[in-house]
Amino acid sequence: MNRWGLVMIGVAALAGSVGVFGLTVFAQGPGDPKAATEVYQQQCAKCHGDGGAGDGPDAAKTKPVPSDWTAGAGLKGMSDQELYDSIAKGGRAVGKARSMPAYPKLSETEVWNLVALVKSFQK
Ligand code: HEC
Repeated sequence: MNRWGLVMIGVAALAGSVGVFGLTVFAQGPGDPKAATEVYQQQCAKCHGDGGAGDGPDAAKTKPVPSDWTAGAGLKGMSDQELYDSIAKGGRAVGKARSMPAYPKLSETEVWNLVALVKSFQK
């Protein structure tokens, strides 16, 4: 094998490992809804309601009031990434209201789990 052959093998191996790395980074989308229940109850339910209907005790204080996720409101037309950003960076990051706070302290995994939980409220 000449030198170029070796270089090509090297390039292919590199591309392969980058590909696998990319998959593990970006395959996080789905998340585990059950793992998010505790965080949700502590930090989100006061506005979004225990079951995601937008009827938590603080809901009436926000403008606009949180959407009823069980009816699919608020989630329609939003990608997983937009839901992620609205939690991690706040409503403003996705063109929604400031009244949706940002949660920069949650880990990436926690936020993806919350995305999955939020989506699971839809009936
Ligand atoms: C202070 C009340 C409040 C808290 C606490 C809160 N939210 Fe929100 N959230 C809102 C409001 C209000 C909106 C709607 C903003 C709009 O429609 O412009 C919203 C929007 C969202 C959206 C975008 C989809 C939609 O319905 O518009 C997601 C996702 C979301 N919240 C998840 C969460 C999660 C997860 C938590 C807890 C980590 C949380 N929220 C905590 C008030 C809150």
